[in-house]
Amino acid sequence: MGARVLLAGMGAREHAIAWKLRQSPDVDEIYVAPGNAGTAQVATNVSVSPRDIDGLVNAARDLNIDFYLATMDDPQPLGLVDRLRARGLPCYGPTAAAAAIEASKAWAKQFMADRGIATAPFRVFRDHAEAAAYVGDGAERPLVVKASGLAAGKGALVCDDREGALAALHAIMVRREFGEAGDEVVVEERLRGWETSAHAICDGHTAVLTPSATDYKRALDGDHGLNTGGMGAVSPGLLMTPALTAAIEREVVAPTIAGMAAAGRPYTGTLYPGLMITQPEEVRVLEFNARFGDPEAQVLMARLDSDLFALCRAAAEGRLADAAVAWSDEHAVGVVLASGGYPGPYATGHRIEGLDDVDPDARVFHAGTKEADGGVVTNGGRVLTVVARAPTLIQARERAYDNARRIYFKGVFMRNDIAATIGPRT
Ligand code: AMP
Ligand code: GLY
Repeated sequence: MGARVLLAGMGAREHAIAWKLRQSPDVDEIYVAPGNAGTAQVATNVSVSPRDIDGLVNAARDLNIDFYLATMDDPQPLGLVDRLRARGLPCYGPTAAAAAIEASKAWAKQFMADRGIATAPFRVFRDHAEAAAYVGDGAERPLVVKASGLAAGKGALVCDDREGALAALHAIMVRREFGEAGDEVVVEERLRGWETSAHAICDGHTAVLTPSATDYKRALDGDHGLNTGGMGAVSPGLLMTPALTAAIEREVVAPTIAGMAAAGRPYTGTLYPGLMITQPEEVRVLEFNARFGDPEAQVLMARLDSDLFALCRAAAEGRLADAAVAWSDEHAVGVVLASGGYPGPYATGHRIEGLDDVDPDARVFHAGTKEADGGVVTNGGRVLTVVARAPTLIQARERAYDNARRIYFKGVFMRNDIAATIGPRT
């Protein structure tokens, strides 16, 4: 009998991971809470919110789940893995204590300082007057002001000058734009360089890096427009080198895994540090995410040739060192189709046309979609990620765009330069 696996989330990341799990001979059933119209094609959707921990624990019991695979950020800091493990369920994902590395930027920064992991110099404040006095003091310098808690990726305010930093403190601590995520703030120096990220599969004591993947966070071509959850991704990342990968492993991932274990918070699950590569080339951690990136997961899953479930189960059981993992040498490009207006207000309920017109080897991973009237309609800001894999970067990009352009819904927009420019630089 194969395993019955539970995922929580509703993005194209969850669709990609469910699609990959479906290929495992050791997986019988996949449940996604709450899922979308795409996950419904490869799994069974369960209408429970990822923040409803009681609901997820009950669903795991009622559905006889025997493995939980963490993909999105919400459930872990709320203790889902702790609760499921207490019931004897193996989990690939961090405990609440380990998820603090994402859920509390203040904790993560102190952890990095204690362990000698390079990050921007910082101070942590709980009091607005103290924070404002610090920003107002001394020579003017470019700062970044961050709400410490989870703020759906929007809690980091990059400031040009003192006025901007004071305004950011006001927004977070006085107007409380991110609610209690802003009870604590991190004020840090603004770094210059280019951004990338890494993903590592971790079993508490061992970490294995995946190939690199870079996302494109701004809404518009040329890295203009507002920050989004991610408008596309490419793997491998365009500027990555073996030397840089080795530095990320040696200077960031290995000391983080060792440090978390030493802190009594062994880290199991996907560790996804966001990084700035400065000039001269040095690696600095901007933040840690305790989950898979979206849309990075979509391009990584397209390149994973071995069994995802076997890998995650080995990690959950603390025997990653023995696990086999095989990644394709090919390139993967993912292009996000978004609703007009995203990341601001947008309409939903538009019928999606052309989903059946894509090539058989192109993947269309659903995010904000749902089934309605015998078809599929838009139901969110990021609607689909179209992924192609090919021997060369140029072919992968052409195929991804060729297929993405066969799909239409009212207001659809995409970036036209995914995998064509290097991505964000400051
Ligand atoms: P975070 O949520 O901490 O990853 O920050 C979100 C975005 O803010 C990052 O992807 C960067 O573009 C930017 N950012 C965060 N911290 C810094 C920093 N210290 N210097 C420059 N940019 C930053
Ligand atoms: N790709 C950005 C994120 O998942 O946070």
